[in-house]
Amino acid sequence: MGQVWGMPVVVGLGLVAAVAGWRRWTWQQRFKTLRSLPSPPGHWLLGHIPPLLAAVKNRQLFQILFDWSQAYGPRYVYWVGYPVVVLSQAKLIDNTIVQGTRDGSLTRTGQSQRAWNDLMGPIMIGQDGAEWQWRRKAWTPEFSSSGVNHYLTLVDQSCTQVIAQLHAAPTDQPLPVDPLFVELTLRVIAALVLGIPIDPAQPSPEGPPLEIEPTYNAMSVLTYRFLRVAVGEKPWQKYLPTPSARAYWAARRHFETCLQSRVDLALRLRDGDLAAQAQASPLFQQSMVVKIAAKEPRYSRATLLPEIVEMLIAGTDTTAHTLSFAVGELALNPQVFETARAEVDRAFEHHGTLTLASLKELSYLQGVIKETLRLYSVASGTTSLQVTRDMVVDDLAVPAGTRLFWSMLGAGRDPDAYPQPHRFWPDRWLSGDRHSPTPPMIDFGSGPHRCLGEHLAMLEATLMLAQMLRHFDWELVNGRSSLENLKQNLLIYPVDRMPIYVKPRQG
Ligand code: HEM
Repeated sequence: MGQVWGMPVVVGLGLVAAVAGWRRWTWQQRFKTLRSLPSPPGHWLLGHIPPLLAAVKNRQLFQILFDWSQAYGPRYVYWVGYPVVVLSQAKLIDNTIVQGTRDGSLTRTGQSQRAWNDLMGPIMIGQDGAEWQWRRKAWTPEFSSSGVNHYLTLVDQSCTQVIAQLHAAPTDQPLPVDPLFVELTLRVIAALVLGIPIDPAQPSPEGPPLEIEPTYNAMSVLTYRFLRVAVGEKPWQKYLPTPSARAYWAARRHFETCLQSRVDLALRLRDGDLAAQAQASPLFQQSMVVKIAAKEPRYSRATLLPEIVEMLIAGTDTTAHTLSFAVGELALNPQVFETARAEVDRAFEHHGTLTLASLKELSYLQGVIKETLRLYSVASGTTSLQVTRDMVVDDLAVPAGTRLFWSMLGAGRDPDAYPQPHRFWPDRWLSGDRHSPTPPMIDFGSGPHRCLGEHLAMLEATLMLAQMLRHFDWELVNGRSSLENLKQNLLIYPVDRMPIYVKPRQG
């Protein structure tokens, strides 16, 4: 009897082994051009999954990608069941994304799309093709350069609130500035998108008041979960009885409670509901949620609410931490500080205050912000791309099925694009000419999904830094370590929240 069954089992096992061997062989053949690339040492079976998961757990995925780029050069590969080619040269990243998305050889990976759309529901950054296009078309005019200029007064009001907080701070005690910038950016984006007054003392009749800390905590929970799902956590894990799943649902509930009545009111205004018109304040009536709801009938409650959460998230951490890093670099580079301050003083002397015209005169200060983004690219590699058909990247044949990713920290320190990369040198961004063109600026992304809020971010950061330079001197409590000790939920932040000693300007 044993012999009767023995033969088919042996044949069956042999067949399974042959199929597995053949599949492995074809897989190796398919990706064999990538074997010539440098690669960190990996596990024979699990490849690079263990160190990457450990990096995500430690909230430092950006750091391992950067460390590997320093060790293995500007093009390396890691293996996580499939190959991921990591680039860290600014021009190469830019050209590859722009051309690859244009000719269709690159597309956003299903994994990162799923991770985005599982924050709260389908959102612009998680879409492609027609579904992305109508969303982007609706929002683009609001965030264009002329669009955001309308909001100068609101942004200025929010900066003035921060200045008042800085004046009130004791000069001999450490003051972490990062939370102040989080409050600034959250109040601004909530005012623009939802019509919530910048001044917390003013009522907002359309819904609950904006609570900075719980809202920021909810954002951190959602963005850290994005990172985990983007690198392999399964979306269904949110249904398990775990602390992280509970935190996820609590974060979603927080946003629903805060936003639902406002989104519903915007939709009722679209429908011409007279009672809604009586309830809505002028600030709300001019807000983006009302304009977008009126303009784009495809937005319903189920799609508009997640999109608003996307705007709140995209508009807060990014600009806030960039401001913190800029404050840090200004403190460590007295000459840059004095040059930026002299430029701000000149603008104030010409115009008496900061206006749209005076902002145009602050190109050195804008160089400070770009230099900060180059070194601390806060939105460091939010989305990976997938090669849909064989392509060539910098003379390297990259087969379909490969993923492409970037080390933005590595790219920012690429000596070919940015000579003396470790020097904080805003002059490199001052308008170039044919002989010395300005360097590539990729920290707002490349290709069609390039940042929607770039102009708003620049406006906020310029106004805030100009006001600080005009009114205060400051030094870092922890010195350079504030700029070296970094983590991420999704976006990179200074772990110590950038404490400074601040005092009113001398002389
Ligand atoms: C210093 C500040 C900022 C940085 C460095 C930054 C960076 C980026 C990057 C790199 C992308 C591309 C992501 C990708 O390709 O997947 C992006 C997209 C986006 N950003 Fe920003 N961002 C900043 C501020 C803002 C602000 C203030 C807003 C305002 C709402 C905003 C809204 C968005 C949106 C909606 C997208 C998705 C666009 C699309 O999918 O078409 N960002 N940003």
